[in-house]
Formats: sequence, C-alpha cells, structure tokens
Amino acid sequence: MKEIISSNHSILIGKESLLHIDTSKYSNVAILVDENSKKFCLDKLPKIKNAITIELNSGENYKNLSSCNFIWQQLVKHEFDRKSLMLNLGGGFIGDIGGFCASTYKRGIDFIHIPTTLLSMVDASIGGKTGVNFNNIKNLVGIFNNPKSILINPEFLKTLNDQELKSGFAEVVKHALIYDLSLWNQITSTKFEDFNWEGIIAQSIQIKNKIILQDPLEKGERKKLNFGHTYGHAIESYYINQGIPILHGEAIFIGMILETDISFLSEKKKDEIKNFIIKNFKLPQIPKKSELIKYMRNDKKNSSKKINFSLLTNIGESKIDNLFLENEL
Ligand SMILES: NC(=O)c1ccc[n+]([C@@H]2O[C@H](COP(=O)([O-])OP(=O)(O)OC[C@H]3O[C@@H](n4cnc5c(N)ncnc54)[C@H](O)[C@@H]3O)[C@@H](O)[C@H]2O)c1
Repeated sequence: MKEIISSNHSILIGKESLLHIDTSKYSNVAILVDENSKKFCLDKLPKIKNAITIELNSGENYKNLSSCNFIWQQLVKHEFDRKSLMLNLGGGFIGDIGGFCASTYKRGIDFIHIPTTLLSMVDASIGGKTGVNFNNIKNLVGIFNNPKSILINPEFLKTLNDQELKSGFAEVVKHALIYDLSLWNQITSTKFEDFNWEGIIAQSIQIKNKIILQDPLEKGERKKLNFGHTYGHAIESYYINQGIPILHGEAIFIGMILETDISFLSEKKKDEIKNFIIKNFKLPQIPKKSELIKYMRNDKKNSSKKINFSLLTNIGESKIDNLFLENEL
C-alpha cells in the first residue's frame, strides 16, 4: 500500500486501504452510493455496524440540489448529529455531491472519499473541490473542503467499462504532460492492458497533490491542471448541445490535441503527443474551431476578450495564463 500526505489528510492507495476506515469515534455512519457502486463495490467494504446506505440514481443529471435534498432528508430521518461520518463510495459524481452535502449538513460533518472510477481516483477526489450543478451550469454551487482521508482500491477498476477507464486516463496523460516526463515515458512505453494501476494512480496523484498544495484555491499554479480543458469544456458543451453523449475524458483528449497545437513545443514533440492520443484512444470527431470559439468566449478564465490557456512548454512542463485573441487560434 502507498501513502501520500496531503494538506490535512492522507491518501492511501492499495487493496488494504479499505481496512483503514475507522468509524469508532462517530455516532452515525452513512455510505453514499449510486446503483453501480452499490452493485460492484459496496460488498468490498469491511462491515460497518449500524451504517445506513443512501442510494442515488447514477449520472450527471442527478448531481443537483434535489439529490442533496434527498441526502439531507435521510440524515435528518436517521437523526445524524454533528459527530457523524459520510463515506462517499463511487465516482466523481458521488464524491462531489457527497462532499458537498457532508460539508454543509449541520455546518459540516466528516467525510471520507472512496473513489471507484479512474477519474475520481486520480482527479475528482483530490484537491477538496465539492459541489453540484445548478441552472444547467456545472458545479455552480459548491465549497472547497477536504475529506478526512481518501482510500483508493484500484481493484474497483476491474468492473469499470473500457470507455470510462480510458476517459479517466485522460487526466493521467494530462498530469504527465504538464509535470512529469518520467510518467509520460512510462505510459507511452507500456501497453494499456499491462499497466500497474496502483503505481500509475499513485504517481498521477503525487502530481496533482504537489500542485494543489502550492495553490489550494486556484489563484495561480493550480491553473496548470486546466491544460486541455479550455477547448475540452467547449467540446463537452458543443456535444451536449448536439444531443450527442461524450465523456469528460474524451473531450479532454481532444482538448489536449488542440492545445498541444498552440503550445510552445517543437513540431516533433507536438506530433509525439498527438500521435499517442490518436493511436490509443477512440475519440469523437473534432468540431470546427469556429464552433468551439463560441463556447470558449464565456470561459471564466478569460480577460479583455482574450481566451486563456494553460499550455505546455515541454513534455512534463507547463505555463499558465497564455492569452490568445480569437483570430490567433
Ligand atoms: N471535484 C473535482 O475536483 C472534480 C474533478 C474532475 C471531475 N469532477 C466531477 O466528477 C464527475 C465525473 O466523475 P466520473 O467520471 O467518476 O463519473 P461518475 O461518477 O458518473 O461514474 C461514471 C459511471 O461509472 C459507474 N461506476 C462507478 N464506479 C464503478 C465501478 N467500480 N464499476 C462499474 N461502474 C462504476 C457510475 O455509476 C457511473 O455510471 C463529474 O460530475 C465531474 O464534474 C470533479
């Protein structure tokens, strides 16, 4: 088992991590699941006496205040006091909404993240962002708050479908590209099927953890994590408006291709990155740039009508706040 220390909590990675759920000092325990984490993951947790299970329907459409209402109702019904604990067992959906509901119930009860998708292991559970969608805007309502611990069992990935696994892998690729040449060399020289997930997850988290410790509230350095995401979010919005489903990581892979093109790299390195992504991952079509610019105009990071990108200065190095006029793209 590997341990990574974050600001005020530890991140344990390995099958044995689940043995570190200590509920002894809590008066009540709730386990938050969706139907898939209930079906595939719940029975892998050690038995917790008197824990209640709160089940949500899975999917981004349910990451809203109605689901929060349901969660808070359950906590009230079972008389949860301030010394209660919430275990968020699921992907980024469960982590985000569970973290938010726990952080606000009775002004905050403790919670532990037990992520069950690759995306939530390497990204969503790390960094203290919690929240829900509101008025069709993603994560509009939320709070920064850290869990008591994050327990990661890579065995949960065995039941995840290939498309979800590869989508989560986009964030591993991003971490390597912005910060760690050795991780890039490792993932580009090993077959996907042969990955040692425990090692890759740990290295990927190390990178995000280092960055967020320097800049917990996203004032500077943390923006590096946005590489691929300026175009990526525009691609997600474009496909949603076309009524065509797209996974977050698929949009981010395309975003990384487009943002590699405007990065400060030799043509050879640009080709190395783009070829790796194109050869290994089946991706939807890249929409026309003019279509994407319409969405990027509203990006929160923009200033003075310029679009703000975090870009690569080398493989394993990156730079924030690169501003482009629309006609320069
Ligand atoms: N807080 C952050 O910093 C942060 C960062 C990135 C993404 N997010 C959020 O994360 C969410 C996306 O997370 P996600 O990609 O994990 O999606 P998800 O939680 O919706 O999970 C994807 C699907 O996999 C299923 N699933 C989960 N674990 C499984 C398992 N072990 N076996 C089989 N099926 C399983 C789920 O039920 C769901 O159908 C979005 O809401 C996004 O906004 C948050």
